[in-house]
Amino acid sequence: MVIKQWRGILKEFAPFLPITKLTPAITLNEGNTPLVRAMRIPASIGFHGELYFKLEGKNPTGSFKDRGMVVAVAKALESGSQAIVCASTGNTSASAAAYAARAGIKAIVILPHGNVAPGKLAQALMFGASLVEVEGSFDDALVVVRRLANQYQATLVNSINSYRLEGQKTASIEVVEQLGRRFPDFHFIPVGNAGNITAYWSGYKEYLNWLVIGHHAGFRVFLGASSVSLMGVLPRMMGYQAAGAAPIVEGHIIEHPETVATAIRIGNPARWEDATRVVRESKGLIDKVTDEEILYAYKLLATQEGIFVEPASAAPVAGFLKAWREGRVPDGDIVVCTLTGDGLKDPTTALSVANRSVVVPADADYIASLLELPHR
Ligand code: F0G
Repeated sequence: MVIKQWRGILKEFAPFLPITKLTPAITLNEGNTPLVRAMRIPASIGFHGELYFKLEGKNPTGSFKDRGMVVAVAKALESGSQAIVCASTGNTSASAAAYAARAGIKAIVILPHGNVAPGKLAQALMFGASLVEVEGSFDDALVVVRRLANQYQATLVNSINSYRLEGQKTASIEVVEQLGRRFPDFHFIPVGNAGNITAYWSGYKEYLNWLVIGHHAGFRVFLGASSVSLMGVLPRMMGYQAAGAAPIVEGHIIEHPETVATAIRIGNPARWEDATRVVRESKGLIDKVTDEEILYAYKLLATQEGIFVEPASAAPVAGFLKAWREGRVPDGDIVVCTLTGDGLKDPTTALSVANRSVVVPADADYIASLLELPHR
């Protein structure tokens, strides 16, 4: 048996990335996450197409951020930077702290006090980041971080940093390959700062271009004649915000965003205009789902599919259920949902919505009768 080690984003996707011989080849072997087919949800709603989950929580720090962070930190090192800085709802800070530890540079993370899930706080602290909590929202923290990066010696690694998006786009390339060189018809994804939806769309476009002309130069003329129909190969990008933090859907900044999905508790997305363009180009949609819909999908994924994600990652599944109800998704289509972060990041929400355990004497017969377990 030969098991080949996956070498991480910088090595595996080198032709698609803005890296040079001078870019340090750092890695935590991020990427190559599973694309898992849904087993029970489709039948339960009468959907006969193919539904897949891209498990981005299986990255080294438990979220999709690692794909982009490895590129951003490598480029920061290449430019001689000794410190990185980010605002975060938790996952960006965990990832930044891990790659900074690995690269031997300083990570400064600025978080909205009281609104970061404990698993994410523990990660950033364990990786040795300098962690500062501000009295304010993520949006306030981002304003602070932009000033810090402008006026002091630290490289900003939020998704305003385009190297982040260059790394994150690799997830789309994996999806196409994992589907056997097919593009999905729809791609559902949570929207916070709107960096990831922007990255996925550019990944899909670039990869289509590469498949058609990139490694068969002779096909160039063919693309010229058919570029319009080829656009139809690309998926519709379906972004979902939480109803209490849905600035793009409402069309204005939300001063006090509120949602159980703290990862996407953002009132003024940095990539707002990009997200609007992605929706226009892909003939997609940005919509909102309520906290109730998010928690319903959160439990459904765990109890019907055996997949435990953090609440923000359930938003695209809530979005798919909503879009299916609304008749936006033709039966038989190929649908991919990106599940952005691992469920263990936010045990507090899990314990607050899951079934309770009971404390009883250590007596098998008593427990069997309590659980109504039939005798052999
Ligand atoms: N899902 C999770 C689990 C996230 O952590 C984030 C963003 C998103 C979705 C939304 O992605 O911002 O690219 O639209 N988290 C950022 C952070 C804001 O600081 O960790 P986006």
